[in-house]
Amino acid sequence: MDKHSLKELQIFLDIATEAAMAAGIVLENHFGKLEQIEEKGRSGDLVTEADKKAEKQVLEVLNRHVPNHQILAEESGLLEKSDSSYLWAIDPLDGTTNYAHGYPIFAVSIGLLIEGKPMVGVVYNPARGELFRAAKDIGATCNRRPIRVSQTTELARSLLVTGFAYDRRETNDNNYAEFCHLTHLTQGVRRSGSASCDLTDVACGRVDGYWERGLKPWDIAAGIIIVEEAGGKITAYDGTALDINSGRILASNPQIHSSLSQSLKETPSR
Ligand code: IPD
Ligand code: CA
Ligand code: CA
Repeated sequence: MDKHSLKELQIFLDIATEAAMAAGIVLENHFGKLEQIEEKGRSGDLVTEADKKAEKQVLEVLNRHVPNHQILAEESGLLEKSDSSYLWAIDPLDGTTNYAHGYPIFAVSIGLLIEGKPMVGVVYNPARGELFRAAKDIGATCNRRPIRVSQTTELARSLLVTGFAYDRRETNDNNYAEFCHLTHLTQGVRRSGSASCDLTDVACGRVDGYWERGLKPWDIAAGIIIVEEAGGKITAYDGTALDINSGRILASNPQIHSSLSQSLKETPSR
């Protein structure tokens, strides 16, 4: 990547940070004081006034700085613009169920895909006071300090994290079998309730790996580049290149990646 592009990415990283901080103020202000909690189509899939107001803040910042870029935002859908090679994938509040219960694991997640590849990402959790940032070839930081994935070399010594999508009651492919299988093979599997926080926990080495199904690009776009720039590996479950629209992701430090992939494959059938 040439210097001009790095400079361009730095500018986009600063724009994403400005948008995340603006949304973060909304999330902070409403935390523990929600007035409206609605269910979206599916039972358990919540939306609050904080999701909507935070998204408005992000859109305002992006429309001011990059009015021609496409936007895919969880609450507004796809906003088509003239420059289709740039797509911002936004989750204004990732971890809404946690947030609605006053459980402090949630974040605003803002990723920029250029020609389909995650290139810039910011994940901000105001309750933990953690701002994760990364851009391609620029590195990954938490609160401006460089971060790296863990050094764990064996699955048996690893701590993992995963999640269960809102359709878990409607399908047998709900990740329960994989959760049990990996729980037996590792030191533990956590479930935090925020995909973007799971990815940033991989990036800073708090957990060694993460997998999940049923995800949307806005859940993972920012976290992908943050993990990659922290030295982690991101693929599909089978170790092949990730399709961000597939809904499935496997993220870990490079040392345990292939055994994690193999163990997912060997999960006893449901
Ligand atoms: C959810 C969280 C959760 C994951 C779900 C997501 P939301 O996002 O990331 O960890 O398990 O699949 O939909 O609804 O809180 O933005
Ligand atoms: Ca989400
Ligand atoms: Ca959300």
